[in-house]
Amino acid sequence: MWSSTFLIAGLVPWAGAIRLAPRESPRVVALDIQRRHPTDAAGRDRLRRRQGTVQQTLDNLETLYFANASLGTPAQTFRLHIDTGSSDLWVNAATSQLCRAGGNRCGTSGTYNANDSSTYQYVNSVFNISYVDGSGAAGDYVRDTFRMGGQTVRDLQFGIGIVSSSAEGILGIGYTINEVAVGRAGLQPYPNLPQKLADEGAINSNAYSLWLNDLDASTGSILFGGVDTAKYHGQLQTLPIVQEQGAYAEFIIVLTGMGQNGQNTSLFANQNVPVLLDSGSSLMYLPDNVVRSIYQQYRAQYDSSAGAAYVDCNLGNQQGSLEFDFSGVRISVPLNELVIVATVSRGQPVCILGIAPAGNSVSVLGDTFLRSAYVVYDLHNNKISLAQTNFNATGSNIQEIQMGADGVPNASVVPNAVSTAAVGTGGPRLHGPNGLAAPTGAAMAAATANPWLGGAAVVGAGVVLGFSGF
Ligand SMILES: *[C@@H]1O[C@H](CO)[C@@H](O)[C@H](O)[C@H]1NC(C)=O
Ligand SMILES: *[C@@H]1O[C@H](CO)[C@@H](O)[C@H](O)[C@H]1NC(C)=O
Ligand SMILES: *[C@@H]1O[C@H](CO)[C@@H](O)[C@H](O)[C@H]1NC(C)=O
Ligand SMILES: *[C@@H]1O[C@H](CO)[C@@H](O)[C@H](O)[C@H]1NC(C)=O
Ligand SMILES: *[C@@H]1O[C@H](CO)[C@@H](O)[C@H](O)[C@H]1NC(C)=O
Ligand SMILES: *[C@@H]1O[C@H](CO)[C@@H](O)[C@H](O)[C@H]1NC(C)=O
Repeated sequence: MWSSTFLIAGLVPWAGAIRLAPRESPRVVALDIQRRHPTDAAGRDRLRRRQGTVQQTLDNLETLYFANASLGTPAQTFRLHIDTGSSDLWVNAATSQLCRAGGNRCGTSGTYNANDSSTYQYVNSVFNISYVDGSGAAGDYVRDTFRMGGQTVRDLQFGIGIVSSSAEGILGIGYTINEVAVGRAGLQPYPNLPQKLADEGAINSNAYSLWLNDLDASTGSILFGGVDTAKYHGQLQTLPIVQEQGAYAEFIIVLTGMGQNGQNTSLFANQNVPVLLDSGSSLMYLPDNVVRSIYQQYRAQYDSSAGAAYVDCNLGNQQGSLEFDFSGVRISVPLNELVIVATVSRGQPVCILGIAPAGNSVSVLGDTFLRSAYVVYDLHNNKISLAQTNFNATGSNIQEIQMGADGVPNASVVPNAVSTAAVGTGGPRLHGPNGLAAPTGAAMAAATANPWLGGAAVVGAGVVLGFSGF
């Protein structure tokens, strides 16, 4: 089903002029994304825990972001979970056991039937994405026609889960090097969605912007190939992505300080904490000592069985904020974005704080951080541009991202930004090959050595990171 609210390049009257783009229809592909409605019965967020511990389910944690898209000819429709922490698009096959079992579990996300598509092409059978809790999906890589936001992409490669234990369809939009085809099967990377949009000239450069919007708003947007300057305050600030073992593989930047209530670095300063920007993660995961001090100040009660900390829901009505400092670039996250209603018990809301301890894993800035930021993921130049979000912005001023090092409009490079930090290549992460684990506690490639990453292919078709021993 197509939403009439899709922003289609050229069909929507923009509020402002497109200054850097003289052409009539800018080369951007835009679409609305939607957070799952909390009363959606099919929708439950799974707070997955690590390593031998039980999987914990928090109902109605309204966190994941979805976009509508279709595959095949004629179109089969899907609701896809947008994930910057992984790199493969995959959907369930109609024949998967999970989807054929009762309860119409895959009804909302959609299922793919190759026999019903005249444009289906088989690629290979190496698709296999697995999650830390043991769930995952395996089956074929195929190619077919993909449509979203008024854009048609022919012959897009994606995975179909024939054996699957997750009902979600996932649109992973990270680096191609992080595809499971590369990590597990040792194949060459294939052009995933953002790469293919760039290769085919639908957008100028492999880069996109993500605006998640307010916790109390239900829609945000993703803009491939463009920046919407009406959706943030001030100017974009550009920071380097951190390499891992000599390769750009994940959206990791360096957090250099944190503070509270406008004091930019009152929690810590002058430290280099690598943090993964992961829209597929509901919460953020920070170093344990930082989390301890935050919990103390907000009187948060950590519950190891839930893997989260409970707080008084009234905290969300208080003034205050957490400040995140990236080499001098500050993003402020207001308290009301940090308090999430996890469930309702006997008519009373039960709230958790959107921050949990990272334990031995890399820190992750998930949706509880990302909602407060406008983020440009520039895969071509290996840069992230950030600005404070403009919550509930209704205007629009879309500008194309151009090829080249300074191609992101309205962005200035942060001088002397920290560009390296130890991302834990050794033993600290759990569960992975060579001791590396999925930073989101989600999908990761195991087993086969990744030729680029020395056996450490890690993707995060992220649900939520669990941890032990906090
Ligand atoms: C996706 O499609 C569903 C069903 O038509 C619709 O209710 C929803 O608003 C759409 N979401 C977005 C983000 O376009
Ligand atoms: C497609 O059709 C073939 C031949 O009729 C059959 O063997 C196969 O199981 C079908 N596949 C699906 C996905 O229905
Ligand atoms: C996918 O990988 C997992 C973990 O390595 C393995 O247990 C499973 O058998 C694989 N599934 C298929 C269908 O190959
Ligand atoms: C954004 O809109 C939502 C829904 O109307 C509202 O609850 C929220 O307070 C607004 N946020 C801001 C920061 O104005
Ligand atoms: C915190 O950072 C912001 C943005 O850089 C700046 O405007 C503000 O003055 C800083 N506040 C303090 C207390 O240093
Ligand atoms: C771009 O950045 C400048 C600051 O250099 C700012 O004044 C301006 O409003 C920004 N926005 C646009 C749309 O150019």
